[in-house]
Amino acid sequence: MAQSIPLAPSKTTETLSNGRTKGASDHASQHAAALEQKIRNKTAKIGVIGLGYVGLPLAIEFARKGFETVGIDLDRTKISSLQKGKNYIQDIPDAHVADVVNNGSFRAQADYSNARTLDAIYICVPTPFTTNKDPDITYITSAVEELAKELRDGQLIILKSTTFPNTTEGTVQPILEATGKKVGEDFFLAFSPERIDPGNQKWTTANTPIVVGGVTPACTRLAVLANEQIIEHVIAVTSPKVAEMEKLLENIFRSVNIALVNELAKLCDRMGGISMWEVVDAAATKPFGYMPFYPGPGIGGHCILIDPYYLSWQARAYDFETNFITLAAETNESMPFYVKDLVFKAIADQPIRLRDANILVLGVAFKRDVDDTRHSPAIRVMEILMQEGVSQISYCDPFVEKLWVSGRTFEAQTLDEQTLEAANVIIITTDHTQWDYEFIARHSTALIDTRNATKHVNDPKLRAKIQLLGSGKAAHLP
Ligand SMILES: NC(=O)c1ccc[n+]([C@@H]2O[C@H](COP(=O)([O-])OP(=O)(O)OC[C@H]3O[C@@H](n4cnc5c(N)ncnc54)[C@H](O)[C@@H]3O)[C@@H](O)[C@H]2O)c1
Repeated sequence: MAQSIPLAPSKTTETLSNGRTKGASDHASQHAAALEQKIRNKTAKIGVIGLGYVGLPLAIEFARKGFETVGIDLDRTKISSLQKGKNYIQDIPDAHVADVVNNGSFRAQADYSNARTLDAIYICVPTPFTTNKDPDITYITSAVEELAKELRDGQLIILKSTTFPNTTEGTVQPILEATGKKVGEDFFLAFSPERIDPGNQKWTTANTPIVVGGVTPACTRLAVLANEQIIEHVIAVTSPKVAEMEKLLENIFRSVNIALVNELAKLCDRMGGISMWEVVDAAATKPFGYMPFYPGPGIGGHCILIDPYYLSWQARAYDFETNFITLAAETNESMPFYVKDLVFKAIADQPIRLRDANILVLGVAFKRDVDDTRHSPAIRVMEILMQEGVSQISYCDPFVEKLWVSGRTFEAQTLDEQTLEAANVIIITTDHTQWDYEFIARHSTALIDTRNATKHVNDPKLRAKIQLLGSGKAAHLP
């Protein structure tokens, strides 16, 4: 259940502090009441803009709850696949997509036509950064500009894309209000960040609590109600800015904590004789005040790597340096270079020249058991190795058939004895659960494990071939 939000008329209708007439305020509460009624009796038409990792599960969830749902995406390949009832998001069962397409509750289109017929619209478009790591919110602004052309009284718009505080009120609201319509009266606007964790079987769209902050109390109330149709626990906060900052805190928290263990993992390797993996597991026995994070080859994906930069960029406009964010980024971004050092050390131990070395990368998705390669640390490791003159690189990943790195196309190799034995050095960059790590160790010459995937490999002969990042075995590294 959501935190209690008064169902009484909104502040606008009580005080008329914005100078609008009583008639306008009555109008506003009529719009709110009509939309509320439509959401409650499931006649509200739902729109989802951007049908990727966030948008498609959301759209399918609404359609499965009986709402007529329209998905809009500019990627025609995705649209034509959905129009045939074909799914492309790993976490959604194929049958769920086929069912809602076949029963007509979900429809996908590649333009914004008839967007004015939608009642509640979720915006789930990408929020990447530029080469210089400045925020790029042009996907949001172009989606909102399209919606503005079709804006009608009584619509609710919920931004879900992760972004810096004040995007909803400072950027989205002015575009929509340029139509002459007023937020909280003619239309309703809120920010409700996404928390989906691709590959997580336990925490799904339905059972992961979600935060909502509306521009006015009526906006919050309606956005909470819309979310409650598919999400068990919805938490209202006082403004979109709080919700925007809250999402960034979640991701900065992870980035900073991962950086901390990465730094200590390097220290363990420097000191020798202490494994950071054992240290983290030991600390995790404390039943309060501690949460385990593990070292690795770097961070990736569309969230933890990017989102902190949104805030550090914004903070600079206030003469404020977000030192934790910068330090965490510096540490995490150093990890692929650290993996490169481990690879060079393993090559140096063999009678082979760098340029002749054959390197096999195991796992190119940014984390285990997913197919998402965006900003994957494995790709960064491959780029760095190629820049250093290593040309014979191949990879295995059951979730990723093809990969493009620094202008080269790579195709996934079959993980078998031949592939493993052909490599001078194997790097485990992603610890997919379906792999047999004992088998991998047995058929490797030198194995660099950046994820502790080989933790159950106990045979001393095999362990001698394994260089585990942060294990304290690489005491001679710089
Ligand atoms: N992937 C995650 O695990 C995750 C988790 C939490 C939050 N987020 C945030 O959610 C947002 C979306 O992420 P995602 O992973 O779903 O991205 P995605 O790239 O998988 O999907 C975005 C979709 O939007 C479409 N699109 C782009 N511009 C459009 C436009 N103007 N109109 C219509 N469609 C358009 C793209 O074609 C794409 O299909 C981002 O802000 C991201 O940071 C993602």
